[in-house]
Amino acid sequence: MERELALEIVRVTELGALSSARWIGRGDKNAADDAATTAIRSMFDSVSIDGTVVIGEGEMDEAPMLYIGEQVGNRNGPSVDVAVDPLEGTEVVACGLHNAQSVIAIADRGSLLHAPDIYMEKLACGPELAGRLSLEDPAEVTLRKASLITGKALSELTVMVLDRKRHEQLIATLRGLGVRVKLIGHGDVAGAIAAALPDSDVDLYMGSGGAPEGVLAAAALKCLGGELQGKLLPEGPFELQRCLLMGIENPTRVLSMEDMVGTGDVIFAATGVTSGEFLSGVRFIGKERAETHSVIMRAQSRTIRYIRSIHFLPGKEIPQVTASRPDAAFI
Ligand code: FBP
Repeated sequence: MERELALEIVRVTELGALSSARWIGRGDKNAADDAATTAIRSMFDSVSIDGTVVIGEGEMDEAPMLYIGEQVGNRNGPSVDVAVDPLEGTEVVACGLHNAQSVIAIADRGSLLHAPDIYMEKLACGPELAGRLSLEDPAEVTLRKASLITGKALSELTVMVLDRKRHEQLIATLRGLGVRVKLIGHGDVAGAIAAALPDSDVDLYMGSGGAPEGVLAAAALKCLGGELQGKLLPEGPFELQRCLLMGIENPTRVLSMEDMVGTGDVIFAATGVTSGEFLSGVRFIGKERAETHSVIMRAQSRTIRYIRSIHFLPGKEIPQVTASRPDAAFI
């Protein structure tokens, strides 16, 4: 993949973020998601790839666009798999909370895991711990290993976890060990990335979240030299069947980075919609301009680029939102 593609991809996440940001705090997560999806889908037409969506908005019969198997890009470039979450954190935007992003990863065709929309247990870490921990270990063993490897006392380690009832036991174990637990409400792609950023105060990301988000986070962690191990958690025969249909023969084995993102190059881009772990959200400046913050990374170079953009909005196809006429005018 040409490195210039990274810049083309970030233009797509920027438009997704700008479009959904109009819906921050309006209590309508579907509208926020639709706005990001529509913008991203149309923007993809100009991107120089021959892309196939492998992680997207759902199956063809569930999603009008960015469905699994849809072809995206102008076909004037490499054959790639596309993982896209136009709005990672739909509820976040609806409620005006933290940590929503527009996220895309692309990788050589055939590299990205076709993850079903079910839960996945995750363990993510940065380069220092990569390859040295196991998702099969109990949490206490993982933390004791991390403490030995990093030379930090347990009380100096920080683990990020989604604030969910299902994580009560995990959180109690971590706190019982004296480990700091940083809870997030939503957005576990950002949570997992936080564990691998060089300037982050988070050592590990643990707990279960969406499987598609797991693949997106694994793509980012590959670019950062970190690691995400995942284990699908199919509930009942329907979800099990979905795993099998997506070609995952042993749905409950631990998935490695190679299983999820392959061995080749990966490009990852994210633009903040609302402010979160490492990206600020969209800020509208007067009627005509808006500021976005994005990150782009490439596995081959492992460069992390932060891009602050000031957009001139007239001419961009971003639906203007008003309380009474959400989809009325374009600015
Ligand atoms: P959505 O964008 O689909 O709302 O996902 C937000 C999110 O917080 C993900 O980051 C995470 O993987 C998942 O939801 C966790 O699911 P749940 O809220 O059911 O625990």
